[in-house]
Amino acid sequence: MRRFIIDTDPGIDDAFAIGLMMQSDVEILGITTVSGNNGIDSVTTNALRLVNFFNRPEISVYEGARKPILRESGTSDGCHGTDGMGNTYLPVGNRIVEEKHAVDFLIETIDSSEGDIEILALGPLTNLALAIQKAPEAMRKLKQIYSMGGGVNHGNITPFAEFNYWVDPEATQVVFDFGIPIRMVGLNVTEECIISPDEFALLSRSENPVAALYYQMQKPYTAHYMNRDKINGAIIHDLLTASTIFDDSIVSFETQDVRVETEGEKRGATLIEPGNGKPVSLGMSVDVKKYKSFVFEKMFRIKLKA
Ligand code: BDR
Ligand code: CA
Repeated sequence: MRRFIIDTDPGIDDAFAIGLMMQSDVEILGITTVSGNNGIDSVTTNALRLVNFFNRPEISVYEGARKPILRESGTSDGCHGTDGMGNTYLPVGNRIVEEKHAVDFLIETIDSSEGDIEILALGPLTNLALAIQKAPEAMRKLKQIYSMGGGVNHGNITPFAEFNYWVDPEATQVVFDFGIPIRMVGLNVTEECIISPDEFALLSRSENPVAALYYQMQKPYTAHYMNRDKINGAIIHDLLTASTIFDDSIVSFETQDVRVETEGEKRGATLIEPGNGKPVSLGMSVDVKKYKSFVFEKMFRIKLKA
């Protein structure tokens, strides 16, 4: 069975991605948290809430970086609700965070592996960069990273940059420079995948408690897209990223040399620069229908009409 560590800043779309992972045939070795959508205390609590909701006490949560490797934190604009997960205020139950720091958990777990561990990175790449800087030999054993971030000629937090990579562009560059195979699922593909209010309404009609939870959770996120961007529906970036783990034909990837801009107005932008950037496998196009059918079936047991 494939083995994953989920590095995340939940976050509504992170919570969707974690929900997909929790209901899939993979081993989740642990969840590491990173400051991003909200501060570290909030995102760590939300990770514990999800472990409790899915009744997976064997999955430990490790708190990670409080701030980017060089900069001060920048958090998102409140689109994730007052609790950071759509005002659902799920109980934590008796889940508690581990004492070990996320960076040490990453290093020790990857070092003691057979080289088979993969990472699903749904937030800024701060923890991964810190682990690479602290123990490069151990981190060489990492098999592959799926990263939600960047975009080909796309931005969301600025006209040029995507939020995760904008928060910690230096960390992103450290990870790219390290040369572990990385699949980057950026805004150019995630923004193609808008889940409409009618599609979300299917969740409200289901008796599945997972569907009921996520119906509630998406509400402020969907409202935010309408208020800010006049988009009728929500873009669940991190969920698309997670779905690519299970079906290779949802997103098609192409390897390009990519560099991350760390200064000036383009800070955080992913720039394709042949001969100058580092090879990154970029998501270039997406089969939206296939993606939606896959996640509705797998997460909520709902079959979408063909
Ligand atoms: C990314 O930034 C966060 O707001 C989301 O959780 C996602 O990981 C999208 O730019
Ligand atoms: Ca995220």
